[in-house]
Order: sequence, then structure tokens, then C-alpha cells
Amino acid sequence: MRLLPVATEGELAREAADLVAQALRRRPDAALVCATGRTPLGAYAELARRRLDPGRARVFQLDGYLGVADDDPRSLYGWLDRALLAPLGIAPGQVVRLREDTPEPEAECARYEAAAAQAGGWDLAVLGLGPNGHLGFNEPPSPPDAPTRVVTLSPESLRSNRAYFPPAYPVPERAMTAGMRLILGARRILLLVSGERKRAILRRVLDGPPTPWLPASYLATHRDAWIIADRAALGPE
Ligand code: GLP
Repeated sequence: MRLLPVATEGELAREAADLVAQALRRRPDAALVCATGRTPLGAYAELARRRLDPGRARVFQLDGYLGVADDDPRSLYGWLDRALLAPLGIAPGQVVRLREDTPEPEAECARYEAAAAQAGGWDLAVLGLGPNGHLGFNEPPSPPDAPTRVVTLSPESLRSNRAYFPPAYPVPERAMTAGMRLILGARRILLLVSGERKRAILRRVLDGPPTPWLPASYLATHRDAWIIADRAALGPE
């Protein structure tokens, strides 16, 4: 695991965009898994600004709430579409979804796992850090071999996700997430961390040791994981 400290959110966006662009130069049909949340938005906007050609990239949705339709403001597919897919011109056929309104979530997770295997695993994972150290919605405790599955969200996640949606829309209590096994199997992982509110949890991730109680701590066991963090998240030297 390597730490790439950057000064600002803008620099974080540019560094992350550089690494995504590099993955696509190396392999135009790269398989990427891309987080929603606020942290990667700058990087996605930067890729759109550069008019990055997404080539034949395949993009996997990282997570999604259960029981939410595509036109619901809480749909994480909708979020990914607005932030990344539409601005870059990534076609629906290039995207592997976790369909949030599926009547059969277990089958949906199995289908997703099969699609990831079919793609030969992921070339790049672009992730954010949950307030409790979760990756995707792999809530503590999540072991490194956790599969893609239905999860019940923790009180911390419910609280932090509350800020994303209008008050009339409660945060769904259940979600689907790409499993730790798939995430840690990605050939390269970028964990983007920004802002003072992530400082304490980032410190715990950097200090280790790896534990299911802090899923992001398993990045320390990965051979090409990068944590790109801005000064606000890292705190004083
Ligand atoms: C959310 C999502 C994650 C996201 C993380 C951080 O709960 N499940 O996929 O990466 O928390 O979100 P943010 O970037 O808004 O801090």
C-alpha cells in the first residue's frame, strides 16, 4: 500500500484522473469498479473535462440501496450515471449494474459476481472511505473474502448517507455491495480520501493492522493499493 499525499481536493481529483486515464491507455477494455459518494466526483469531472475516451471500458457499479427504482433520487446507479457514465459517454452495454429494484437481490449478486469473473477480475477499483472504514457497503465486520451480497447498513452509514438525499427520502436500511474478495482482487486500488471529517478514520486505516472491523485496513495486504489523501484528511505532519 502506498500513500500519495496531496495538498488539495483539486490535486486529488487530478492525480486520480491521471491513474484512471493510465489504466485505460494500458488497456482500452479495462474493467473498472467506480464508487459513488462525494469524494470521487472531482476525479470524474476532471476525466470529463479532459474528454477522456472511455474506449471499450467496462464499468461496474460498486454498491446500491435495495428497493430503489432508477428514477429515485437515492439510486446509486443514477448517481453513477450523472457523475461518470453520461459525462464520459459510457454506453449502458458497458456497465455492469447492481439493480437496486431487483425482486431477487441474491440472484442479482450472483449475476454480478459471474460478470466480474467473466471480465477476468477488475483492473482498477476507484473507492471512497466510509465513515466507519467501509469500502462500498462492506460494513464492519467484513472479512477479506466477503462475497458480493445483501447487507444491513450500520447506524454510522445511515447517518452519513442521510446528507445525500432530500429529507423526504429515508436512507434505505439494506443495500447490495461488491464483496471484499472482488475489491481486494482488483489489480490496482485507489482509495480517495478528502476532508477533515475523514481524518480519524484514515489515521486508523494507515496505522493498521488489518482487521474485519475496519474493512479498508485490508488495503495494507494488497500489492498495488494507493491511498490518495488531501492535507485536510491527513492532518498536521
Ligand atoms: C458511502 C458509499 C461508498 C462511498 C463512501 C464514502 O456510504 N457506500 O461507496 O465510497 O460511503 O462516501 P463519500 O465519498 O461521500 O465520503
